[in-house]
Amino acid sequence: MSKRKTLRKVLVIHGPNLNMLGKREPDIYGKTTLDEINKKLEKLGKKLGIAVDTFQSNHEGSIVEKIQDAMGKCQGLIINPAAYTHTSIAIRDALLIIDAPIIEIHLSNIYKREAFRHKSMIADIATAQIAGFGILGYSMALEAIATMI
Ligand code: DQA
Repeated sequence: MSKRKTLRKVLVIHGPNLNMLGKREPDIYGKTTLDEINKKLEKLGKKLGIAVDTFQSNHEGSIVEKIQDAMGKCQGLIINPAAYTHTSIAIRDALLIIDAPIIEIHLSNIYKREAFRHKSMIADIATAQIAGFGILGYSMALEAIATMI
């Protein structure tokens, strides 16, 4: 049997409008683009021995399908469902199928913002939630998952 450890896989899902990071309300979400965030995560993943797969969609169904597809194929999941955080039972139900740590992440502190952002449909089923640290939150999430898997 090979002595090489199998590479751990973590899927990072970015929800709607996060493809506009850098241009979108930079005072709230910062100036870093999604591509830069993904590259940082891939680099950190290499250091941690984790293969990082990233995915962004503006469509609820595509996010649901990506989560379903990850079943049994990844050891951890990081998700910023963006606006779907506050509305999507479909994404919540899909996440319930995943038998791996799930970290919910938000760039902004959703609890300091409008009341409709205070409710997360996935907070009670996620392993943990990170909110308000900007892009640092993504590295924190990956480091945390690395210690869990
Ligand atoms: C967000 C917060 C959500 O309320 C918002 O709809 C987003 C981004 C965040 O990362 O802070 O699109 O998830």
